[in-house]
Amino acid sequence: MSTFHQIPGPNPASTTESQDPTWSYLVDPLGHMSTLYQHYGDVVAFLRGGNKGLYLPSEKTPGTVFAFGPKQTETILRNPSLFHSHSIMTPLFPECEAEETALRRITTGLFSYNGSPHQCQRKKVMPAFHRSTIERYTPDILRITHEISSTWKPDEWMDLARETTSLSLTILWHIFLGKTGMGHPQHLSNAQSWLEHLLDASRGITLNLPDNPKDRVREEASFIEDTFRRFWQEASKEDQSVLTQLCHHAPKNESLTETEAIGHLFTFVMAGYETVASSILWTLFLLASHPKELHNLTEEISGPFNGDSISEDEIRKLTHLDHVVKESLRLLPAAPICWRVAQPGAFLNPWEVPPGTEVIYSPFHTHRLPELYDQPQRFQPSRWAHIRPSPFEYLPFSAGPRKCIGASLATQVIKGVLITLLPRYHFQLPPTIDVNLRVGITLQPDMDFPVKLIPHHLATPTIPEIRGSICNHVQFH
Ligand code: HEM
Repeated sequence: MSTFHQIPGPNPASTTESQDPTWSYLVDPLGHMSTLYQHYGDVVAFLRGGNKGLYLPSEKTPGTVFAFGPKQTETILRNPSLFHSHSIMTPLFPECEAEETALRRITTGLFSYNGSPHQCQRKKVMPAFHRSTIERYTPDILRITHEISSTWKPDEWMDLARETTSLSLTILWHIFLGKTGMGHPQHLSNAQSWLEHLLDASRGITLNLPDNPKDRVREEASFIEDTFRRFWQEASKEDQSVLTQLCHHAPKNESLTETEAIGHLFTFVMAGYETVASSILWTLFLLASHPKELHNLTEEISGPFNGDSISEDEIRKLTHLDHVVKESLRLLPAAPICWRVAQPGAFLNPWEVPPGTEVIYSPFHTHRLPELYDQPQRFQPSRWAHIRPSPFEYLPFSAGPRKCIGASLATQVIKGVLITLLPRYHFQLPPTIDVNLRVGITLQPDMDFPVKLIPHHLATPTIPEIRGSICNHVQFH
């Protein structure tokens, strides 16, 4: 019989207030997890004996367990029937588990399914993400990036976090919903404001005051549902969008119901836009703080890219670009930690994990193991010329049967955006910048992110002084 007490972890009886694990996790989850990994090994209880659950509704879980490193991660990801996925909304809106609401319907995507329903749903949506389909989106990615970045004002400070979010959402909206979605710009801005409320709600305690973001997310979900139902009913047959693929080109017996489809489509938007935005932001930041890497990459891109278009073949040959994106996703992965719920029979060597336990695995910590990556805290794109980590050693998009379905698409978007922006602009950081990390739905800076846009031919790259919690995880000099 497995009990939570066997699993090592900080003893609640001996923790003083200054070491309160809940507080420490709240302030700096990644730092707190690093300390636990060092002290207790690769399977650690958040609190010895159990806790109320960090993300799951408290009454359902005996506690939280962190699983570190490639071996334990492989066990979790190779055994999806023992480690279930959960809707990404459960932590914020536990009522979604029990009630059939618009909010639940629009957020029921792949994350919400397990077992054979998951395999079946994944098989149905997979064709929309085949490489050959995705490559067709490159001209649109370049065009939209060009159009949006042309509205940015050179020599003025702008919030890069805000701009990359809006850029990513517009690109993905176009890819997912095509002409049907782009035909009504107000729907995109409604969805954007809904997603902002969701982000606000995910930032922590929301007071029960009128207009609180959680209430707005609940209230406006019906509107999003109606919009997506209309998209489904009006889906153009000619488009290249994911919507068109799912609606009109599904193989026989593989078609989705309207309700399934809107859940998937909106989940793609939610899962994709912030992760892609955060990856672009961190990549531009790492390049701005490593001028030599930026110079080499811009030189490489400027060869084949004529300011307007570039072929797929030429993109494939941009090895430095490939290495920069891989390295940025290693060092600052947009989804640094992911969670599962243990089922009967779950086992993380050497412990049985009681059913209901919230299990958190961490690509972020695996990516920092010195036995896998030399000088792991440094941004060194060139390392990718001679390393070939296994899928469980390098997993910004996770691995196994639940690997991110949007991985190739996300990489294509990130590369397309960098190809368009870097030969035109230099993103100049302030001489001194405090960068504090926040682990919300994704890895974000805990602040606006000021950059000045300098036309590329006028730029004189300088190395800024970087301070803040990022320096605990990335070595700059
Ligand atoms: C750089 C961008 C992205 C990163 C870093 C990322 C990362 C991840 C990770 C780590 C997982 C596994 C989560 C878990 O184990 O619980 C995941 C799953 C998923 N991602 Fe992404 N993602 C990105 C972009 C996208 C995009 C553009 C889409 C849109 C299609 C997407 C859709 C999904 C879906 C639907 C799943 C669930 C897959 C399943 O359970 O079968 N992601 N992603």
